[in-house]
Amino acid sequence: MSEDETAGDAYDEPLFFQVMEYAAHADRDVVDMVSGNPDWEPPEPLRDGLREYADAEPDEFQYPPSEGLRELREEIATRRNVDASRVVVTNGTGEANYLTMARAMERDEGTEFLLTDPVYPYYPGKAQMLGATSTKVPVLESGDPDVDAMREAASAETAAILVNTPNNPTGAVYDRDTIEELHDVAAENDALLLVDEVYDHFDFSGDFESALALDSDRVLVTTGYSKSMAVTGFRVGYAVFPEAYVDAAKTRHMLVNVATTRPGQVAVLRALKETPPTYYEETRAMLRERIDSFTDALDAAGAAYTRPRGAFYVMARFDDFPGTLSNVERLIDEAGVAGMPGEAFGEAYSDWVRFALVTPRADEAASRLADYFG
Ligand SMILES: Cc1ncc(COP(=O)(O)O)c(C=O)c1O
Repeated sequence: MSEDETAGDAYDEPLFFQVMEYAAHADRDVVDMVSGNPDWEPPEPLRDGLREYADAEPDEFQYPPSEGLRELREEIATRRNVDASRVVVTNGTGEANYLTMARAMERDEGTEFLLTDPVYPYYPGKAQMLGATSTKVPVLESGDPDVDAMREAASAETAAILVNTPNNPTGAVYDRDTIEELHDVAAENDALLLVDEVYDHFDFSGDFESALALDSDRVLVTTGYSKSMAVTGFRVGYAVFPEAYVDAAKTRHMLVNVATTRPGQVAVLRALKETPPTYYEETRAMLRERIDSFTDALDAAGAAYTRPRGAFYVMARFDDFPGTLSNVERLIDEAGVAGMPGEAFGEAYSDWVRFALVTPRADEAASRLADYFG
């Protein structure tokens, strides 16, 4: 377990920008597997919605309601089986996470976020920005949270437990029991449970169930369309708050952002209504194939790796090659493959390198790794 009060310092320049810069300036061809930008097509209705929007009346180019277009919030509410009043449409899941974390701090019931190690590095960055501390608890070998260790780490100082499932970077998918147990730990310490479900459409295990199913006034859920609709540049996401917390979150959202993008919301709404389930099924099938061939090549390279049960990242560990920034730079120069240093996610996976399977060249990258390490 580690307490990390300085994590935010790294956010002057996020590590993945540094790695991408380095790869862009390499003297050779590099397969970019650094960040989670999908390389596949968005749903066709999303493009239709955007095209149609270009010809809308000028009044539709003005401020939308701060908390999101009513039709979009209602569509989300129906799908999630919650009251629309609890939904705030945000500038991606990133802002939704910020709003839930800020809300947890405003309760004055502790100033610590309990996180997993490895962790999506923006969480400790945001915690620090909010004047909070973060405590990272190493996950089990399966990638699931170590609930007992989290229970031990939790205290009256804990403002919230913040988890992500399906998980970046481990690929773990937490089952309902795990989420319930985390909820119990939160309840025992009068803390909130914040669950980032941005990879909710990328469950290969069949075990994913949204934390909203708990129907608890301690659970705040965030997600967005960046990944599910392959539009990280659109910046449309949302948070679902319990009634007691939603008003202050709306105020913060309004003061910080006014609102999020209106064209993006219009296009996402159209896509929600008109995209058939086959779009998501085909994306998952494509990713399954990538995972299989990438991990086959990692076998050939003699590497240990995580096989994702969800999301689209593979962590790999090569002999005598810890996941430091300098080793990642070496891989770029000497193998022509760019990944993320495991040390960016905490200590537990600092020997590993994360590869995002968001390139049609994942196969090529895999054979380069097999050649280099094999
Ligand atoms: C766990 C996690 N949460 C949030 C985000 C950001 O999502 P968005 O683009 O919806 O802000 C990412 C992006 O990679 C992520 O991996």
